[in-house]
Order: sequence, then C-alpha cells, then structure tokens
Amino acid sequence: MQVKVIDHPLIQHKLSLLRDKNTGSKDFRELLEEIAMLMAYELTRNLPLEETEIETPVARTRCKVLTGKKLGVVPILRAGLGMVNGVLRLIPAAKVGHVGVYRDPETLKPVEYYCKLPTDVSERDFIVIDPMLATGGSSVATIDMLKRKGAKNIKLMCLVAAPEGVHLVNEQHPDVEIYTASVDERLNDHGYIVPGLGDAGDRIFGTK
Ligand code: PRP
Ligand code: URA
Repeated sequence: MQVKVIDHPLIQHKLSLLRDKNTGSKDFRELLEEIAMLMAYELTRNLPLEETEIETPVARTRCKVLTGKKLGVVPILRAGLGMVNGVLRLIPAAKVGHVGVYRDPETLKPVEYYCKLPTDVSERDFIVIDPMLATGGSSVATIDMLKRKGAKNIKLMCLVAAPEGVHLVNEQHPDVEIYTASVDERLNDHGYIVPGLGDAGDRIFGTK
C-alpha cells in the first residue's frame, strides 16, 4: 500500500476533535481548514527553489525563492471545498479547479456532474483534495478527468483514507502520491469509513 501518512501531533490532535460526533459544523470547518493548511506544508516540501539576489537593510545577499512553478488545487465537490482555503493560505497563487462527483448511495459508484479546470492544465502540477477516500471511486474518477485534460503530475490529499480506497488509487493511478492524516480500519456495509468521521460534506455544511 503506497500512501504517506502525515502523523504530525497537531494534525492528529485536530483530527481526533473532528472525529468526535459532538463537534458542530463551525468547529468542524475551522479544524478541517487548519489541518488542510498543515498538510499542505508537507505536500509542498519538494517545491523547486531558485537563487536570487536581494538587499537586506545590512548587505546584499543571495537567497532562495520559489521558482514560480504553476500549481492547481482541485477540490472534489462538495466536501473538498472545506479544505481549499487552508491550502490557499500557503500557496495563494495556485489556481483552483472544481470537479463535481458524488457517490450513488446504492451502488457507491461515482457520478460525475461538473468539471471546471484552469485552461493550462498540462503546464500545472495538481493537488486533488477531498477529506474522504473511501472506496476510492470519486478520487479515481477525478484523477481520470484531470489526466484526460492533460494533467501529468497529480498528488491526492485526503484527511481520512480506507485501505480499500488507497488500493484502488494505487492500482488505477500508481503515479499519484496519496497523502493522508490516517489510514483507518475498513469500510462498513454502507461504504462509510470505520471509525472515520461520518459524512464529511454533511458535517461541513450542516445539510443531509
Ligand atoms: C464523499 C466524500 C468523497 C466521497 C468518498 O462525497 O467527500 O468525495 O464521498 O467516497 P468514495 O471514495 O467511496 O468515492 P459524497 O459522495 O458524499 O458527496 P458530497 O461531498 O457532495 O456530500
Ligand atoms: N464519504 C464520507 O463523507 N464519509 C465516509 O465515511 C465515506 C464516504
């Protein structure tokens, strides 16, 4: 199973608060955004740097800045929206695409209903974001869409993953690195992650 678990203590603490069924929507949204920002720090660890020359108040010096590599962030609607602002706080210049996919409650298969991506897809590196990687169907469908439009370099960032979802993404898209805060035990008969945190979209937006 190829997956990178980000086990920073701050992330693990905040994730435990998120899992608690007594955490309401306001706190849930704030915690999710904070975790997304912390995870983005880890995902961007290998961004390329270049040298430049600047003048401090004391002397001229050479120092490093980002090369300006083009990035794209793609939340899977709806629940992925809850992580966008956290990521953008670290990489504000990223363009944001949106992909709409929901899981058919009977078949658990992904149903695609929306796709709006930056025009220069093939020039960007993408981070697909969704709090939940359950069967993996929604993430695989989103990555399929991105690749069909020309994306070559994609990372997947999710908060909680089931082993089933990790296996599917590994199998269908072995080039896509998965980052998560936790790989949970399993899926239940309704396709929910156990122990998980329930329905992420419902908890973010307070709707069913
Ligand atoms: C949830 C979640 C993921 C998907 C994960 O979305 O946000 O997108 O399920 O399940 P999978 O890995 O089995 O595909 P949902 O279908 O509930 O839509 P919503 O975000 O609009 O509520
Ligand atoms: N989608 C969710 O929101 N939660 C799960 O546990 C599985 C899919």
